[in-house]
Amino acid sequence: MTSQTPIEYLRSQDERHIEDLLEYARIPSVSAQSQHAEDLQKAAHWIANRCRHAGLTVDIHETPTHPIVVARTPNPEPGKPTFLVYGHYDVQPPEPFELWTSPPFEPRREGRNVYARGISDNKGQHLAHINAIEAWLQFGQPLPCNITLLIEGEEEVGSTSLLKFLPEHAQELACDAVVISDNGIPSLKHPTLTYALRGIAAIEIRVDGPDRDLHSGIFGGSLDNPAMVLCQMLAQMRDTKGRITVPGLYEDVQKLSAYERRQMAKLPSNPDKYRRFLGVPQLFGEKGFTPEEQRTARPTFEINGLTSGYQGEGSKTIIPSWASAKITLRLVPDQEPRKIIAAVKKHLQRLCPKTVRLTVRHGHGGKPYLVDPTGPLAQAALRAIQAGFGCEALLAREGGSIPIVSAFKEHLGADSLLIGMALPDDNPHSPNEKLSLDAYAAGMRMSVHLWEELAAAMA
Ligand code: BES
Ligand code: ZN
Repeated sequence: MTSQTPIEYLRSQDERHIEDLLEYARIPSVSAQSQHAEDLQKAAHWIANRCRHAGLTVDIHETPTHPIVVARTPNPEPGKPTFLVYGHYDVQPPEPFELWTSPPFEPRREGRNVYARGISDNKGQHLAHINAIEAWLQFGQPLPCNITLLIEGEEEVGSTSLLKFLPEHAQELACDAVVISDNGIPSLKHPTLTYALRGIAAIEIRVDGPDRDLHSGIFGGSLDNPAMVLCQMLAQMRDTKGRITVPGLYEDVQKLSAYERRQMAKLPSNPDKYRRFLGVPQLFGEKGFTPEEQRTARPTFEINGLTSGYQGEGSKTIIPSWASAKITLRLVPDQEPRKIIAAVKKHLQRLCPKTVRLTVRHGHGGKPYLVDPTGPLAQAALRAIQAGFGCEALLAREGGSIPIVSAFKEHLGADSLLIGMALPDDNPHSPNEKLSLDAYAAGMRMSVHLWEELAAAMA
């Protein structure tokens, strides 16, 4: 224990925090690929050890797949509020390797950025909280609240184990609110509290035609082409104004209030810069909404993958036997994944001609999330963000999904405060993922202030 304030302590540990981050990012904990199962164990144990070093008590819960790490501040005091910090140690697959400037699991430091798969999504962001909590624990004065950390290894593949674990361990995970840093901010000068996330509904569509690939010259013209049918069906799912054509799809969509639209308008916006950043000749989105509104507060229907016929070198004159598409819809409050999937399925069945057989398989789903940004905890979080980043904190919705957030509400009755540290060019899920060391440092300072602010707001 020292007399250094948590903020002074953080500053004194700057280099070690970066070295720790690099070490963590070296573990290729790719949850989607079974050959990395041992690396997921390694990552779970690495973060568990890091929590122990920070002064927390730690339990590693084995699951049929990857462990769940639960760490707590020592000697919890019943009179104080308790907050749950959630994070995930698994990362997305790094492929395609050839698009990385340096190998994805050999972190490269360049100026104030570090490049590695998973460094922003999500290793650096939850490590920042652990560093901040350590800074509090070494300080002569007690933490103003109890903190539980919950770090899982399956977020990128649907959080299956945690969804089962949560109701079974609801009592030990009981908390007044959940804190999550697994999202982004528009810039270091525009840090935000995210009060809404989009939900998700995944489906796979398959269209079957002839029982084998056929010669397109001998037979073409006398039977339907599954790839063509699938394309024609998919093309009808969205109109030229960017609206999804599935009947009933917009039925439960909450309108953006004038207050929210005003808040959103405060966020930095430069459509041309955004267009260049995306590398597209022109932006496209639902008419009547700004790009920020389109990507965070409106539903979408996206083709994630499309497969049919011959994909090899040269040409092959066939009518493919089948065609398939992987689809996800992003959902907004108050759309229900199950209701949306049923509506999409019905619409596809109506559009499908009798010349082929259609199969629609359900994938994972996650509800959208929205919390009142004017509540006392949200206001406390805004103050902590302001103190940590050194400038005014704004309110934002986010386009991505964290399905576990609605499970926290359901099983723990707790709202989630989403306080991201990722920057728009961090490339999560893309080649050359990075984390800004300035965002990492600001995130740690924010976390130090957060515990005081949240505890005071609960008093
Ligand atoms: N960290 C992201 C979610 C995110 C990103 C939220 C940016 C807000 C802003 C998370 O790791 C993620 O990628 N989630 C998946 C969920 C899906 C697999 C169910 C997503 O959004 O695609
Ligand atoms: Zn992710």
